[in-house]
Amino acid sequence: MTVADATTTPPRTAAALTALAERRARALLGGGPQAAARQHARGRLTARERVELLLDPGSFAETDALVRHDCPALGASRPYGDGVVTGHGTVDGRPVALFAHDATVFGGSMGEAFGRKVLKVMDHALRTGCPVVGLNDSGGARIQEAVVSLAHYAELAHRNVRASGVIPQISLLLGSCAGGAAYSPALTDFTVMTEGTSRMFVTGPDVIRSVTGEDTTAEALGGARANATVNGNAHYLAADEADAFDFTRVLLSYLPANNCEPPPVYAGPGADDAADDPVLDTLAPASPRAAYDMRHIVRRVVDDGELLEIHERFAPNVVCAFARAAGATVGVVANQPAHAAGALDIDASEKAARFVRFCDAFGIPLLTFVDVPGYLSGAEQERDGIVRRGAKLLYAYSEATVPQVTVVTGKAYGGGYAVMGSKHLGADVNLAWPTARIAVMGARGAVEILHRRALREAADPDALRRELADAYEREVATPYTAAERGYLDAVIAPRETRRYVLRALRALREKSRPAPERRHGNIPL
Ligand code: HXC
Repeated sequence: MTVADATTTPPRTAAALTALAERRARALLGGGPQAAARQHARGRLTARERVELLLDPGSFAETDALVRHDCPALGASRPYGDGVVTGHGTVDGRPVALFAHDATVFGGSMGEAFGRKVLKVMDHALRTGCPVVGLNDSGGARIQEAVVSLAHYAELAHRNVRASGVIPQISLLLGSCAGGAAYSPALTDFTVMTEGTSRMFVTGPDVIRSVTGEDTTAEALGGARANATVNGNAHYLAADEADAFDFTRVLLSYLPANNCEPPPVYAGPGADDAADDPVLDTLAPASPRAAYDMRHIVRRVVDDGELLEIHERFAPNVVCAFARAAGATVGVVANQPAHAAGALDIDASEKAARFVRFCDAFGIPLLTFVDVPGYLSGAEQERDGIVRRGAKLLYAYSEATVPQVTVVTGKAYGGGYAVMGSKHLGADVNLAWPTARIAVMGARGAVEILHRRALREAADPDALRRELADAYEREVATPYTAAERGYLDAVIAPRETRRYVLRALRALREKSRPAPERRHGNIPL
């Protein structure tokens, strides 16, 4: 064949190309321009607009654009794509697989053809070991396709669980997500919702009204704020869709592609470059009751002061965040004395336990900052099961085999000392500031219990109380009892923290993870 011949398309090919172009154009339509306009009017983007915004420009390779249902119950309408856009692309040059519900087609509900497409994306992600991102905007199981839709949701849930701890799974909820479109995201690692435009619930308000007679609104029931602050279903409350995509891209930058790969490492100053930071000496809490923002301390220790908080608005008495130390990802867990004195309640325990387990599953070292009065006591917490649910954090830390470095900056009382990355649960390097108070309880409570009789008989009980409390603070609630026993590896000046932390993480880089001796434990649920 000559070069001139190669530019002449044979008529049969030309006709086939025209037919292909027509089909492709129809596949791009989704529910059509009017439905797209309705989607825009509700403050939401279309599936394809979302994919373009999430991925690196021009990187999207679509799969199954020409899939159609053959369900008679859906009538003559057989749109290409069947209500979901699937494929793969890159974020910052790293591969991701994704699916985006097209709410303009059958409300984004999942039927058989739709389900097969999503399962195929999941299988691709598992085979190639890349994260999967779901852009959810769906009424759940497609009512017209009955049990077939349920079967596909169950299969998707099964895939989500098989993929859990193998590849990162991120769910964005960008419209009204009901039924399986809420349950499948709930099985994934991170859920992102958009304020004012997204909902997540098992059933919407109409169904609730007909089943239980309760009158509620979609926003109160499953709005993004309720899910991000009250029940913790959502890990991030995005201002809008652009913010949701930005968060997702940044989140991916911290994560490995799968559980066999190390997390990405960015160029940065090394462990030996860390200078003393005298500001940290000024941040050490003077009183055990000081309400200060622990994030100020954490930011001075990690690279560039950057934290990506997970569940920022839920259980703020514990901070869970991704950060970098000498360029490598770490998972930070920190008590937050600025909220509820940093006590560990049910929500904080479950939030931190899930984060610790994620980091452990994906080989991300844990960096724990401790200033905790203990588990929260109270009739309501006991009734709601703090014993069972607080135990999840003990379980998660005990189970973790990734490198673990712990810094006690303030008080570490009672169960709070034990659970927050203590040496006894398996932490590798434990550090404390000289101002740390490590004890069974605070001075006030201890004095009342130990010296009840002397206080009752004292001429000036308040003076004796003060004197005994001072002695307790001096002699008992110090880091040195722990240091003498090797429970702490070093007591350090606050200004030295970054250097100690970076060197500890460097020393632990090659920490070998023991092969599991059993299939899995049984976390108390
Ligand atoms: C088929 C559906 C649908 C569904 C919505 N639509 N949900 N079609 N199957 N499940 C269609 C509507 O008929 C409508 O079509 C369009 O999508 C938009 O729906 P609206 O109701 O107008 O939107 P909105 O007011 O925003 O309300 C959204 C909604 C509500 C809250 C999601 O539609 C709703 O309650 N849907 C039912 C949710 C549900 O109960 N799903 C099944 C759950 S069981 P037109 O043509 O009018 O535009 C399940 C199994 C889980 O999912 C298994 C887990 C393992």
